[in-house]
Amino acid sequence: MELNSAILARHSTRAFSDRKLTRDEITELLTAATKAPSAVNMQSWHFYVVTGDERAKFKNVCAEWVSTAPVVFIICTDSAGIESRFSDGRGRKFAVQDTSYATENLLLKATDMGLCGCIIGAYDQDACVREFSIPERHHVVALLPVGEPAAPVPPRERKPLDEVVTYIGDTL
Ligand SMILES: Cc1cc2nc3c(=O)[nH]c(=O)nc-3n(C[C@H](O)[C@H](O)[C@H](O)COP(=O)(O)O)c2cc1C
Repeated sequence: MELNSAILARHSTRAFSDRKLTRDEITELLTAATKAPSAVNMQSWHFYVVTGDERAKFKNVCAEWVSTAPVVFIICTDSAGIESRFSDGRGRKFAVQDTSYATENLLLKATDMGLCGCIIGAYDQDACVREFSIPERHHVVALLPVGEPAAPVPPRERKPLDEVVTYIGDTL
């Protein structure tokens, strides 16, 4: 798919078909994620890939439908390195930014492959750490269920550009 088409076609999906993803497909998604830019190229991210029966644990962590996706990524920062390089909270902020850019790359790649996902920010942090034995050095910032959409989803509207953009300088 051409890039602009993927940007326009990406949308959040909360219902998935029964199709499983292959290991190669998951690797393709993760490869796209890790091509994202990152602060001083420290790549302060870590991805847990949850498949099969392990997905049932998400029922104790977030909305039940999340466990119906064939794969759920647990998106984490791994920020010890960047935090020792940048103080005053900047390192921690950079790590969250890194993972966010990686997540969008993954979603665009998923769209390119005919798949969909939905970033999940509403989850129980402690339950997620407990259920999936996430070590302290990895801080969970989002969950990302991905799969083939069960049905087409209408696009959600966006605010008009003039509401969210301020030009500074000469009018083009
Ligand atoms: C930081 C963040 C947190 C989100 N958390 C949730 C969530 O907990 N549950 C959910 O169903 N969707 C969640 N979403 C998805 C948004 O609802 C969705 O991106 C937005 O409504 C725009 O729709 P679209 O992605 O289809 O364009 C989240 C998105 C972001 C970026």
